Amino acid sequence: MSTVQKYIDDNIDTFKDELFQLLRIESISTDSSKKSDVKKAAKFLAGHLKEVGLDDVKLHETDGHPIVTARKVVDPELPTVLIYGHYDVQPPDPEDLWETPPFEPTVKDGRVYARGSSDDKGQSFTHIKSVAAYLQTGTKLPVNVTFIFEGEEEIGSPNLIPFIKEHKDLLSCDMVLISDTAMFGEDQPSITYGLRGLAYMEVLVTGPNRDLHSGVFGGAVKNPANVLVNMIAKLKDDDGVIQIDGFYDDVEDMTPEMREAYSKLPHNDESYMSNLGITELHGEKGYSTLERTSARPTLDVNGIWGGYQKEGAKTVLPSKAGAKISMRLVPNQEPHKIAKQFKEYVKSLAPNSVNVEVKEHHGGYPVVIDLDFYGLKAAAQAFEDIYEKEVLFSREGGSIPIVSDFKKILGVNSILMGFGLTRDALHSPNESFSLKDFHRGIKTSARFLELLPDYSKDS
Ligand code: BES
Ligand code: MN
Ligand code: MN
Repeated sequence: MSTVQKYIDDNIDTFKDELFQLLRIESISTDSSKKSDVKKAAKFLAGHLKEVGLDDVKLHETDGHPIVTARKVVDPELPTVLIYGHYDVQPPDPEDLWETPPFEPTVKDGRVYARGSSDDKGQSFTHIKSVAAYLQTGTKLPVNVTFIFEGEEEIGSPNLIPFIKEHKDLLSCDMVLISDTAMFGEDQPSITYGLRGLAYMEVLVTGPNRDLHSGVFGGAVKNPANVLVNMIAKLKDDDGVIQIDGFYDDVEDMTPEMREAYSKLPHNDESYMSNLGITELHGEKGYSTLERTSARPTLDVNGIWGGYQKEGAKTVLPSKAGAKISMRLVPNQEPHKIAKQFKEYVKSLAPNSVNVEVKEHHGGYPVVIDLDFYGLKAAAQAFEDIYEKEVLFSREGGSIPIVSDFKKILGVNSILMGFGLTRDALHSPNESFSLKDFHRGIKTSARFLELLPDYSKDS
């Protein structure tokens, strides 16, 4: 075994403790009361990168949360890998459903439970430790590396795009390496070569100027909550087809080859359903579950409110009702165009008796990465060397909007080397991450860096 791989095995317990320190920081990007905690996480990473021997470590202030960068240039002739991760996390809500506190990492059955353990602190920390293993053992790094960590991924990366545009030199690279996706199953290494895009909307319906007695006024006044759900019901038909005018215009149809590749991926609807505690699946007619969740666009209500929500019954006709609605997009859909079509369609459904406001939140473009890219091949070999199992290539339904910007602004592909699992419960209560995959992730990352120069020569 190489010195680097042995160093990783020998020091894995220390690496876990270091990760746990990061997991204790409540870096919730969407919560303005946590601004200083988010910064604390950025400082922790910057300090750690410095400690393990990276150069030019910098914490860049932005209009929002900080961006952390660091570098190690060994030889300008060698490939440069830009390693991206995000240190911000989703809110732990609903907090009462957590079995152990969300910001107190707790180990159970080989998994660490904490918000951000998988998404994305645990996954992205693997690369810091793999690079550290080279630097700490005095082994020459096989490639140049640049790290970039942001604290705003979960809120749509508003400050990262301008930052990339302004720091093209610092970020110039041959590829981006990201661990922020899931593997296909336990012990099944996988490379994600596609992600969906996103358009996120909010609809607000306002009726009478105050909440009304539903007995005194009910029957004579349009109820904003009724209007809202009626409009939502018209967004999709019973076959799961989205009804917004023009919605499918730019959708890239699946080719027979693509469908054939999808059909070969290991998937079982029965176990999928039992994992979710449901007895029936529902989605766009004519497509399989995997196709529906990664190659086809969707629309979902993410939150809905209006009227009385607390214990018991209160007879009231609400003055306002609202919903947050996300649409996951596939190539070649354009988030702003879709947002505009959504707005027009919803407005066309609105009765005159209420006021309907439609707001566009953050979005992101879909991506598909060319399977011939040499970086993917090196990544696949690294996975196979460490996991001792053949890699699967798949597309995923989630979004990492910055991936398309890396391509557009820096002209490079991203390698989505996920170490997570669907069971990690991202964004849900009791998020967790397998410590075995944390360990294998570090080893896979180190192996990838080692293999890369040879693969780049062949390209
Ligand atoms: N890491 C996820 C995205 C992800 C998860 C991709 C699993 C593939 C598999 C990321 O942190 C995330 O949650 N992204 C957001 C998008 C963002 C604009 C809020 C998402 O997909 O909802
Ligand atoms: Mn993530
Ligand atoms: Mn996330």
